[in-house]
Formats: sequence, C-alpha cells, structure tokens
Amino acid sequence: MRMYDVIRKKRDGGKLTAEEIRYFIEGYTKGEIPDYQASALTMAIFFSGMDEEETLELTLAMADSGDRLDLSSIPGIKVDKHSTGGVGDKTSLALAPLVASCGIPVAKMSGRGLGHTGGTIDKLESFPGFRVDIGTDTFLEQVRRIGISIMGQTAQLAPADKKLYALRDVTATVDNMSLIASSIMSKKLAAGADAIVLDVKTGSGAFMKTEEDSLALAREMVKIGTGAGRKMRAVVSDMDQPLGRAVGNILEVREAIDTLNGSGPADFTELVMTLGAQMLLVGDKAGSEEEAADLLREKIQNGSALHKLEEFIEAQGGDASFVADPERFPKAKIIRNVLSPADGYVERIRCDEVGMSCLTLGGGRENKDSVIDLTVGMILKKKVGDPVKKGEPIAEIHAADEAGFSAAADRFLRAYSFSEVRRDPGELIKARIEGR
Ligand code: URA
Repeated sequence: MRMYDVIRKKRDGGKLTAEEIRYFIEGYTKGEIPDYQASALTMAIFFSGMDEEETLELTLAMADSGDRLDLSSIPGIKVDKHSTGGVGDKTSLALAPLVASCGIPVAKMSGRGLGHTGGTIDKLESFPGFRVDIGTDTFLEQVRRIGISIMGQTAQLAPADKKLYALRDVTATVDNMSLIASSIMSKKLAAGADAIVLDVKTGSGAFMKTEEDSLALAREMVKIGTGAGRKMRAVVSDMDQPLGRAVGNILEVREAIDTLNGSGPADFTELVMTLGAQMLLVGDKAGSEEEAADLLREKIQNGSALHKLEEFIEAQGGDASFVADPERFPKAKIIRNVLSPADGYVERIRCDEVGMSCLTLGGGRENKDSVIDLTVGMILKKKVGDPVKKGEPIAEIHAADEAGFSAAADRFLRAYSFSEVRRDPGELIKARIEGR
C-alpha cells in the first residue's frame, strides 16, 4: 500500500477501506508517514468527508494506537462522561462524586485546560496535595476501594489522536465533524468505560456554534460509541453564556461544593442533575429519569455526595478539610465589583471574552508550560435576561494585583451587552440523544 494512493483516493471523493485507514494511522503513529502526507489526507477528508463506516474505523484505529485501559477488575457498569468544554464548566467536579455516591464506579481520565477553557485536573489541584499522576494500578485500586478516581490523561492514551490533533491545529483541519467526533471518541474508547454520556455544548462559547451542528456532532459520536459496543447517551447543552456563576479554578471548585450541598446555581444544578440521570440510566441504577432524579437528590440531601468528594480528595493525597470549610481556600488579593455601564437587561455574555478575561488574570494557560494562579477569576452576578441598573455590580473580579484587575475588568465588560427589552436566555438542555 502507498500513502500517495490513499491520499489520491480521498481527494477524488472515494471511500477508504478499514485497511487503508489502519495503514495511515499505524504508519503515522510510528513516524513512518510524514506530516506532509498526513496533512494532505486530513485536508482531503476535510473536503471530501467520511461516511459512518470510515469514521468508526478511524476512531477504532486511533483508540488502538496506544494502551487501552482495562477496567474489567472493577465490578459493575463503568460509566464515563465527556464534555466538549466551555467557560465555567466545572461539571465533573460535582457530577463524579454524585454518581459515585449512587454506586456508579467512576474511573475517569481528564485533561488540563488550554486557552480560555479550564480543565478538571487543574481545578482538582486547588486542593493542596492532590495528586493526578497516580499511575494506573493505584487508579484502579482506588476505584475498587472507594468507587471513584480521576487521573491525568496518560501519553499512551490514543497517541495517534494526540499527534493528528496537533497537526490539524496548524493546518486548518480541526473543524470537520468526522475528525472531531473520531478524535474525542478514540480517547473515550481507549479509556475503557462500558457506557459513555456526552455533554455536547452549543453556542458562542462552544466548539459548535449552532444547535444544528452540535446535534449532528452528538449524533455522530453516539453512533461511533454504539458501533464500538458501548451504551451511549448525549445531551446538547447551552454554552451561549458561562455555566453557573463562577469562572476560575478555586472559585469553580467552591461552586461545585455548594452544588453538592444543595445550594448551587440553578443552571449548573440542572446540568449536573440531567447528566447524572443519564449516567444512572446507562449504569442500570435507575429505571426512569424521575427515579434517577430522586436518587441524585437523596444523595445530595443526606450528604453522601459531599462525603464521596471528601473521600476522593483524601484518597489522592489532597486536603479534604477544605470541602467542609471552603472559606479556607486561599483568596486573591483584590476582590472588587465590575459595575454595569447601562440600565436595562443583560442581553448577551460572550463566553470567549469572559474566558480571555480570566486568562488575563492568570487563571488559564496561554501555552502548555504556563503556571496557573488558582485563586483568580470572577463571580457573575448578572446573567442573560437579568434586569440591571447603571452602577450596579454585574460581577466580582478576583485579581492578584491592580494591573490585573484593570485589564481583566476592561476585557470582562466587553463580554456584556445590554438591551432595553428582556431577551429570554432559552433552555439549558437543548436535546437528549439515546444510543440504540
Ligand atoms: N476535542 C478533541 O479532543 N478533538 C477535536 O478534534 C476537537 C475537540
């Protein structure tokens, strides 16, 4: 087989065979196929597309390019969850201990944040001493013992995707539905869970800006997972404004703790409950959404979910006393309000500008080696549809110094627009998709 012929076939709109896809992925992972041929093929895929069968083959080939995590030593149905990411998305921090307290084994690999969105691993490091590089054996043993562990993604998880994603990033070939779906699902399949619940974001702060595209991506990923023998469900949820009120690592951890205490913001609580219900359904812990919601509420009300978070933090070396007493978390030096420049209603909050404002404060990563300030960020006091008066606080910014506050406040104000007539923010949950 020659790479030249594979590229030419796809360029001319042909359908690649499983052998041709495996040949490409194996050769590229080993370094036998050069970047220029891989970029030519991804560009050909970008223009000619791939059908369902090709997309599944590409996903499986990438999932097989490194280690596949074997979770068979953990009893029960292992359910993983994945979010396509957004601003203020601290869902895993609350959801993982909540479903674990309902008896779903959570063996999750998570990533760090890059750019204007944060990562679960960075947020967890808000707990002093918390370790993410615990090794697979400890990870599995912990899930067997307490039902939950979250570790950093290993380099050996779908290395073909890692290499190809980096290449797509610099060759303008990221935004293709088949390539995105196969990239995400290759990592999920390699991570070994029996069932996967996806949270596909939609709106200005999401990868997919329109509901139509988000729905198509969700359906594509559900098809891939089902084709690979996994139980699948997906939710399309709003990311047209930040999720919840907190943005920034420690602030988001505190909001997740509040939510497990039953006092989180309404939108974030709704998302956690919706995804939690889907996880209990695929994990056979509930027979209906209502039954699942009752069980989740019970675990929040009787303190089991919060206790599971404490057990989890402690098991990975973190100081769990912060869960019961979040006031102990360090705070930024400057905590100051940003005031509304107008009367009326909040019409829009651009997620990318809020994310960039947090990045300006030092709360995110400009590049892989950036050091994050865990204390900085913002608490949104006004969200879309809320009435506001000129001079009233719209948010509280947590900054390390005056210069940081000024730069972040300027940027933050750019995120907001106001109107005289109230705009309805719309439903948080746009769609639910079930696998076969
Ligand atoms: N996230 C991924 O992991 N891969 C993509 O291609 C896009 C988003």
